[in-house]
Amino acid sequence: MLEKINKAANFVKQKIDGTPQVGIILGSGLGNFGNRIENSVKIPYSDIPGFPVSTVEGHSGQLIFGDLGGKKVVAMQGRFHYYEGYEMDQVTLPVRVIKQLGAGTLFVSNAAGGLNPDFNAGDMMIIDDHINFFPQNALRGKNIDELGPRFPDMSEPYNQEMIKKAEVIANKEQIKLQKGVYVGSSGPTLETSAEYKMFRIMGADATGMSTVPEVIVAVHMGMKVFGMSVITNVSEPADPEKGTTHDEVQDVAGTVEPQMTKIFTGLIEQI
Ligand code: 6GU
Repeated sequence: MLEKINKAANFVKQKIDGTPQVGIILGSGLGNFGNRIENSVKIPYSDIPGFPVSTVEGHSGQLIFGDLGGKKVVAMQGRFHYYEGYEMDQVTLPVRVIKQLGAGTLFVSNAAGGLNPDFNAGDMMIIDDHINFFPQNALRGKNIDELGPRFPDMSEPYNQEMIKKAEVIANKEQIKLQKGVYVGSSGPTLETSAEYKMFRIMGADATGMSTVPEVIVAVHMGMKVFGMSVITNVSEPADPEKGTTHDEVQDVAGTVEPQMTKIFTGLIEQI
């Protein structure tokens, strides 16, 4: 695994100038964020040795290097989902490569279904904590001691200091931000009514099919993490009339992308 990480990272290093301080994972519909990165160098995943190739529409699949908020950043436009059939090692490889490139901070974003009855479609939620409901932990298997400990602490996966700073930025910019717990499960099925109720009882505010594996691996390596969900639909107990399509998810996420950019950029400026 270490060899695989180094091989991919070394390939990427040859193509870029400088060391990215920040990694950013762009969720569904948030791809336009990538266009805001200046002096960008784009590397398709298919060029990077050992990288899986992304398959879902709307996820173009490339790393974007460049400048944002006065810092060098690297963004993932397109991520690998467990539901697509990738193993956890594949889902999380890009995060390990991003750390190997030198980034100490990871920004994650996703499209999620709202569980909290106070949430509306189009809201943004700071991820305060998560529930790992994937059938397999991303760190299952022999621990890679060079990357982090066997039993990583998960008492503060999302950096509370960055959360406070994000709230200050949002206040200044008059952006409404929710805050809550994200539950990640494998998908690709959306929730049944009973599952929706269960997640709510468990204490979750939003649900999705990504992020948790990447965050676990990042925390394992000692990265600071900040995460935001775009609530693309309110996953009321399944209503066939209100069924959610992938297009809708992308449209809603695209609409709030400018606000998410303000929060991310504002935080990056303060790193
Ligand atoms: Cl409603 N559920 C899940 N699991 N993932 C989602 C979603 C809902 N909306 C966007 N992603």
